[in-house]
Amino acid sequence: MENNKKLRIGLIGTGFMARTHSNGYNRVKNFFPELEFSPVLKAVCSRNGEKVKAFAEQWGYESTETDWRAVVARDDIDAVDICTPNDMHAEIAIAAAEAGKMVLCEKPLARTLAEAKQMVDAIEKAGVKNTVWYNYRRVPAVTLAKQIVDSGKLGRIFHYRANFLQDWTINASLPQGGAATWRLDADAAGSGVTGDLLAHCIDTAMWLNGGIKDVSAVTETFIKERVHQSTGKMQKVSIDDACAFFCHFDNGSLGLFESTRYARGHKALYTFEINGENASIRWDLHDLNRLEYFDNADDSIVKGWSSIHVTDGDQPYMDKWWVPGLSIGYEHTFVHQVADFLKSLERGGVCSPNFREALETQKVCQAVLESASAGSWKNTDVEWRKKQETEKEAMLSEEV
Ligand SMILES: NC(=O)c1ccc[n+]([C@@H]2O[C@H](COP(=O)([O-])OP(=O)(O)OC[C@H]3O[C@@H](n4cnc5c(N)ncnc54)[C@H](O)[C@@H]3O)[C@@H](O)[C@H]2O)c1
Repeated sequence: MENNKKLRIGLIGTGFMARTHSNGYNRVKNFFPELEFSPVLKAVCSRNGEKVKAFAEQWGYESTETDWRAVVARDDIDAVDICTPNDMHAEIAIAAAEAGKMVLCEKPLARTLAEAKQMVDAIEKAGVKNTVWYNYRRVPAVTLAKQIVDSGKLGRIFHYRANFLQDWTINASLPQGGAATWRLDADAAGSGVTGDLLAHCIDTAMWLNGGIKDVSAVTETFIKERVHQSTGKMQKVSIDDACAFFCHFDNGSLGLFESTRYARGHKALYTFEINGENASIRWDLHDLNRLEYFDNADDSIVKGWSSIHVTDGDQPYMDKWWVPGLSIGYEHTFVHQVADFLKSLERGGVCSPNFREALETQKVCQAVLESASAGSWKNTDVEWRKKQETEKEAMLSEEV
């Protein structure tokens, strides 16, 4: 098979995620040369003409636009990649789907469940390929955790525990809204740590441990008012600064999740731990190549937590990179997602999570926020088991 099919990308946004995705498109064929499709960086869009030109030059885009609608309308674009703040996801995704474009959308899928449902309807009506960038699934150690859980080695699961801790919003003089601080503005972000950070934890959790049935949450907004960038006035802060919730999974296990932007000393500490009847695993983003494993069947004199350095060629994705023992990083998760998306074009299947799957995460986020404001347990209406039975995932790691 000749490796010369093109996937012509139109990227919207030039910020943090635009850089990680552009790096993914640029690197993918160096490390996954067997893929039939190659990304072509056709156009990048941002409202500032000078900035977008500089970005295009830096990352190798052929052209620039300053209105995302122009990208959606172009005949020479196959896929629209949405790297804008959350308030733009629905409008762009729906327009792109209606124009017959494939859509790759950053997480969270939307600001609200209602918006997310409209996006799923539009994508499924158009029948276009789609994916949502919950990239932590594609950390090799996290993919290995999935393979271990699926093998049944842990036995019956009792507990799932996850944290996502940061400390960047403790300063009360930080404004809300605008370029660098849109995450503090509920209109732009939808929610605070729930949609921004816990959405990652929930996506990974349901992928590893199945559907979440119901939740009981508390949220807190520590700084009640901040200056808004657009008005220059002090305004109420409506996002959740911190959130913690308990949940029941469909498999009977208990979940405990915590996220905050007020954990002094923590910048991006995403951790999870799963405790099963026979064994436990845990993972930490700050040491992302390692998976810790405790096997109760080990001989008692050597029994203890082992630290697996996930860098061998027989571990997920790692045959594509260097030699055993050499680590990879955060940016590689985006290369992996691009590779899996290209694989799904070639061989069919879903580049997971797709919009429908990300909708399930959105349902949990919504239930968490509703539970916190009502002070009571909330059902999530997640349909995870049904989804798992019907959709085949396209992940290159499965072939390792
Ligand atoms: N997968 C992850 O781990 C991860 C990490 C960070 C952010 N995100 C998500 O990625 C998205 C973008 O976040 P970011 O950190 O890159 O933000 P950012 O602020 O760094 O970049 C946003 C970009 O969108 C552009 N933009 C805003 N409105 C626009 C419009 N109307 N038309 C064209 N461009 C517009 C801005 O100019 C900017 O270039 C968010 O949805 C966020 O939740 C995901």
